[in-house]
Amino acid sequence: MRLLVKGGRVVDPANDLDKVLDILVEDDKIVETGQNIYAEDCIIIEAHGKLVCPGFIDLHTHLREPGFEYKEDIYSGTRAAAAGGFTTVCCMPNTDPVADNKTVISFIKEQARVKGVVNVLPVGAISKKQEGQELSPIAELFQAGCVALSDDGRPVRRADLMRYAMEYAKMFDLPIFSHCEDRDLSGDGQVHEGFYSTYYGLKGIPAAAEEVMVARDIILSQLTGAKVHICHVSTRGSVELIRRAKEEGVNVTAEVTPHHLVLTDEVIGSYDADTKVNPPLRSREHVEALLKGLNEGVIDCIATDHAPHEREAKDCEYNMAAFGISGLETAIPVSMKLVHEGKLSLKRWVEAYTVKPASILNIDRGSLTPGGKADITIIDPELIKTVEVEKFYSRGWNTPFKGMKFKGWPFMTIVNGKIVFEDGEIKV
Ligand code: DOR
Ligand code: ZN
Repeated sequence: MRLLVKGGRVVDPANDLDKVLDILVEDDKIVETGQNIYAEDCIIIEAHGKLVCPGFIDLHTHLREPGFEYKEDIYSGTRAAAAGGFTTVCCMPNTDPVADNKTVISFIKEQARVKGVVNVLPVGAISKKQEGQELSPIAELFQAGCVALSDDGRPVRRADLMRYAMEYAKMFDLPIFSHCEDRDLSGDGQVHEGFYSTYYGLKGIPAAAEEVMVARDIILSQLTGAKVHICHVSTRGSVELIRRAKEEGVNVTAEVTPHHLVLTDEVIGSYDADTKVNPPLRSREHVEALLKGLNEGVIDCIATDHAPHEREAKDCEYNMAAFGISGLETAIPVSMKLVHEGKLSLKRWVEAYTVKPASILNIDRGSLTPGGKADITIIDPELIKTVEVEKFYSRGWNTPFKGMKFKGWPFMTIVNGKIVFEDGEIKV
């Protein structure tokens, strides 16, 4: 099968391209990018006025299967990904059972093959059952196809265990995705510790709870030489630590979520539990530092931390609610707001979703180079739409963006040369 994507604005930072071009796809490969390509017997995709980008890659998705299918599963989660413009997602191991051995990883891969509509790359747990006591069988996880290691959802409390995890991870060139949180400092905090936590009477989580762990993991990366990727960076201090570490040549990378980039802790005044997320939404000075860090490349990627939950987990008292935001289907419109407002360049924005995550994973995706896999995300930058959770493909309706209007939405998602999402609808 052949596809010809005609006349779109092709933005491919990996090849330093930003130009109106056509793209020819045959089977699962990109054959050619160029002007006025002529080809017979192919499906023509009219892309005038659209942005044509390499397929977006999400480093941080909770697909919840096995064990929490009432929150999400691989069927619904990969459809949410496709509808959100993502062609590849890395799924986190905080499932039940935890993805800490080859059996669970094989199960995830098999389910993804049978019922998934985007590429699913599993992340294995650092410690058995994510209990932070004993290392998972890291060689086994690598051989089973894990692309990274993480205890996300929980921090690795013990520094010695994290050190050993890094030493093993390094042997296989696997990055460690670190959820940085000192649980003694975050305690039973619910929101960012600052003016609004006091004003609204909710327990605070200080910025330092994240920063002390970021500092520790940078130091351990220095010690071991392992690749450390800091998940969902949310504070100015973390950005500064990462900046300094990169200057010193430490093997560290970082991601920020769309919600941490556009919302401040002021929104907790609604007492809407959909604003409850870990790490918490921070104050303006932190949000500004995150945007600056992203612009400067100190923060490499934008990742969703898609954390779907069932209604009961959120439809309760703030203190009782689960942490997490369902993010796959709003990531593009929410973060594109920064591009429309001139706060982030289009090139940097696309890079943060494509070539940067691909290079962290060391996978051959994230570009539109001829010969490569045909993963393509096509965006309508002018389409204005309201976030309607009832129309989500995700089972998680927990988003603080519900009812809000945004400009710039996915128009088409092509995975391995197949159209999986088009104009609001999943096609498979
Ligand atoms: O808000 C969050 N939700 N943060 C995490 O680290 C875990 C995630 C989840 O799994 O629900
Ligand atoms: Zn996390």
